Amino acid sequence: MRDQAEMLRLQMLKSQGQHSRSIAIVSGKGGVGKSNFSTNFAHALLARGKKVIIVDMDIGMGNIHILLGVTPRNSLKDYLDGTNSLAEVINRTSNGLDFISGGSGLDKVMEWKPAMFDRLMEAFEYLQKAYDFILFDMGAGATERAIDLVLAVEEVIVISTTEPTSVTDAYSMMKFICLRDPDKSFHLVSNRVPPNDDGNDTATRLQFAMRKFLGKETKILGFLPEDPAVQKAVLAQQPYILLYPKAPASKRMIAIAETFVQKEPDEAVQKESGFLKKLRSIFMKGRG
Ligand SMILES: Nc1ncnc2c1ncn2[C@@H]1O[C@H](COP(=O)(O)OP(=O)(O)O)[C@@H](O)[C@H]1O
Ligand SMILES: [Mg+2]
Repeated sequence: MRDQAEMLRLQMLKSQGQHSRSIAIVSGKGGVGKSNFSTNFAHALLARGKKVIIVDMDIGMGNIHILLGVTPRNSLKDYLDGTNSLAEVINRTSNGLDFISGGSGLDKVMEWKPAMFDRLMEAFEYLQKAYDFILFDMGAGATERAIDLVLAVEEVIVISTTEPTSVTDAYSMMKFICLRDPDKSFHLVSNRVPPNDDGNDTATRLQFAMRKFLGKETKILGFLPEDPAVQKAVLAQQPYILLYPKAPASKRMIAIAETFVQKEPDEAVQKESGFLKKLRSIFMKGRG
């Protein structure tokens, strides 16, 4: 009965023609700039009049709130374990960005219980109605469930620096995801690109490898230069795109958001998408 009601709700959502884009920001190795990308990309989308929320999936070790300079009221964990309602874990910054904090200070990896998946799905159902873009900043602690979540979202933005190890790790990550869901839409961003380098080399190599070894087409979104404004903004706990709008990284970020907004996901992806449906089937696997 419950599943039928759920299906109906999903159908209703679809027939209302609502299409929000859910995007996971991932990388091979950590420290390449995912969280800074997420917060600044979110503001670039906000500036285009879009409704955006960031969900910090680095549960227990989140730092989105630090980058935004906000002390969050509650965290995703508080919602998942039933302590707080969804409304109580959505924070809004003075710059108008909504986010759900991953929380910090959790000394061990959170244990996922079945009831938590139900809560997560309920949350996403609401978020899809309320926002144009849901950005999942994926943490370093790539737990199995976090990877399940990446498999459920329609689109993935892969951040890589130009270092060879970062590029090979990014490829491994994409391969891992692609083998489980060949229909996923991948977008590539090279970060910390040195001066006099247009960043195309890294992205083109990744694109080539994906095509050659996995027969998978990917899209290059653009690159972000190595820019001292990024570190300065991190220290100031403000997005660089707001603090230093004329900085090279900010200009590039605006171009990236522009490209992204114009590139709707492939029709094939849209057709079979149904983020919630996917999430459900992935999380329900092995549950009886
Ligand atoms: N484009 C850039 N230019 C200069 N420094 C950068 C850039 N992007 C990221 N960084 C540096 O890398 C650090 C880690 O970035 P972060 O977004 O926290 O990575 P991740 O979320 O992938 O672990 C930042 O604190 C900043 O100092
Ligand atoms: Mg991070």
